[in-house]
Amino acid sequence: MIRGFIFDLDGVITDTAEYHYRGWKRLAEEEGLAFTREDNEQLRGIPRRESLLLILRDRLYPEEKILEMMERKNNYYLQFIREISPRDLLPGAKELLEEVRLAGMKNALGSASKNATEVLDRLGIHSLFDAISDGHSVERQKPAPDLFLHAAGQLGLPSAECVVVEDAAAGIEAANAGGFHSIGLGPWERVGKAEAVFPSLSGLHLEEIFTALSLKP
Ligand code: BG6
Ligand code: MG
Repeated sequence: MIRGFIFDLDGVITDTAEYHYRGWKRLAEEEGLAFTREDNEQLRGIPRRESLLLILRDRLYPEEKILEMMERKNNYYLQFIREISPRDLLPGAKELLEEVRLAGMKNALGSASKNATEVLDRLGIHSLFDAISDGHSVERQKPAPDLFLHAAGQLGLPSAECVVVEDAAAGIEAANAGGFHSIGLGPWERVGKAEAVFPSLSGLHLEEIFTALSLKP
């Protein structure tokens, strides 16, 4: 039996994954570091510091410089999200959040971002969530299961009764490690370890999700 859904934010509910990429890209260019869209695929769902360390590869920098680069990227990101409005919801996201509520189930957010609540507020969908777990909620972020376990705990549900919706390999790994049902959005190469894979939330309804997971609502 499923009683809750835990949604990732960036790349699932809105396309802020693109803004994270552009922020890192600008920083990488300023620092003379090679960083492509393909490299960025490894960064999906990964926290700020770990993302930067992946971009820096084996180069060593003083802690001060690392903190400065993290802040610089975040400032670029904050500039991008200042313009976000309800028009930036990805197709099908709000519809599914509403459908979950109508079916008597709960919604939680499970995002590694420290900017998640600001994005939710700008999208105008904060009130559709019963619980928010974000970059401030746990120490160990994805691919550890801690963030989703935190979200399920806030909902008062065991992981086996929750479906995680993710666009990142690290997020699917976290969901699987925590014993959650999982839906991957995007290419098979990225989210193929999910229980069910869909291209996006567009036109996706509970019935199709439960069928794909061989579950009953
Ligand atoms: C995740 C994104 O949701 O949040 C990552 O997929 C991002 O790209 C991470 O690095 C942390 O976000 P923030 O806003 O705290 O830097
Ligand atoms: Mg994501």
